[in-house]
Amino acid sequence: MRAPQPVRRDGLPDQVTVYEVGPRDGLQNESAIVPATVKSAFIERLAAAGLRTIEATSFVRPEWVPQLADAEEVLSGLDLTGDLRYPVLVPNMRGLDRCLDLGVRDIAIFGSATETFAQRNLNRSVAGAIAMFEPVVAKASAAGVRVRGYVSMCFGDPWEGDVPIGQVVTVGKALLELGCDQLSLGDTIGVATPGHVTAMLAAFGAAGIGPDRLAVHFHDTYGQALANTLAALESGVTTVDASAGGIGGCPFAGSATGNLATEDLVWMLHGLGITTGIDLAALIETSVWMAGQLGRPVPSRVVQALAPKSEE
Ligand code: HMG
Ligand code: MG
Repeated sequence: MRAPQPVRRDGLPDQVTVYEVGPRDGLQNESAIVPATVKSAFIERLAAAGLRTIEATSFVRPEWVPQLADAEEVLSGLDLTGDLRYPVLVPNMRGLDRCLDLGVRDIAIFGSATETFAQRNLNRSVAGAIAMFEPVVAKASAAGVRVRGYVSMCFGDPWEGDVPIGQVVTVGKALLELGCDQLSLGDTIGVATPGHVTAMLAAFGAAGIGPDRLAVHFHDTYGQALANTLAALESGVTTVDASAGGIGGCPFAGSATGNLATEDLVWMLHGLGITTGIDLAALIETSVWMAGQLGRPVPSRVVQALAPKSEE
């Protein structure tokens, strides 16, 4: 079988936007430097497989994430004027200044729900990070650049343990109030479970932030990412972050492994009769190719099931 048998289920959206993070979240944790030409080819292949939003790189301090120190080169190789969107991570004014002149149209700031991760990831308190983002969002918005806001450690933190839902909503609200048009809720270490996701989305709803302004960003460390995604879809979310092949992790949270694999997500969505515009076979080929570049197997279960077999 090369595709699931589609069976609709009531209460789910007809269409879902897959927000691809492989070239950024997927690669940022790789210690062996991947050449910029390979990164560009990865992004082009993802676009050819039907991904319409592909987070391309990060304009962070190169000493912090050496793998993405070639952000200018990678972004310069992309056509930023067409229908496809190539967001990049930007933490501060220095990062914004580096990418504005290159014609960037989408950036993402990235806050934390917890103090420990804010310090480890951004060298600041939660409030200090929000203060750092404020002029970035203002300048980007004035330049017509769309801004996404991430909140990390929404469902648990490796140093602080449980994270109160109210604390996540407070940080998320603060990012939206800066002027972000979308908020992506990050399960950085993959510990969320479906009831927690439903409760989180309900709490955002009660705070006046509906699912149309939210995306979900699940890492699959504990094998919960698909179940959590289904819970998010049932709550009305229609933007889901995923990484081709399931590669990735965060260098500042040792317990974080790869994101929800895009192939696993697409299999479930197509099985539910939900349109994505993604060509699963082309995507699998891309992940197998990328795994060859990285010299490691593909974590995605769907890729493992389908890639080695030429026929059934
Ligand atoms: P800092 O060390 O506090 O920086 O880092 P600073 O503001 O004190 O500046 C020190 C020097 O760095 C200065 O140079 C700056 O110009 C330079 P000097 O004047 O001394 O010569 N600098 C920069 N250079 C290039 N680009 C820049 C930049 N900024 C400063 N943008 C900083 C603070 C925020 C920069 C640092 O902590 C950083 O880069 N952090 C990024 C960490 C990161 O990328 N983490 C991974 C992404 S987040 C993630 O994966 C989670 C997510 O997937 C969601 C989820 O899963 O939960 C999004
Ligand atoms: Mg992530």
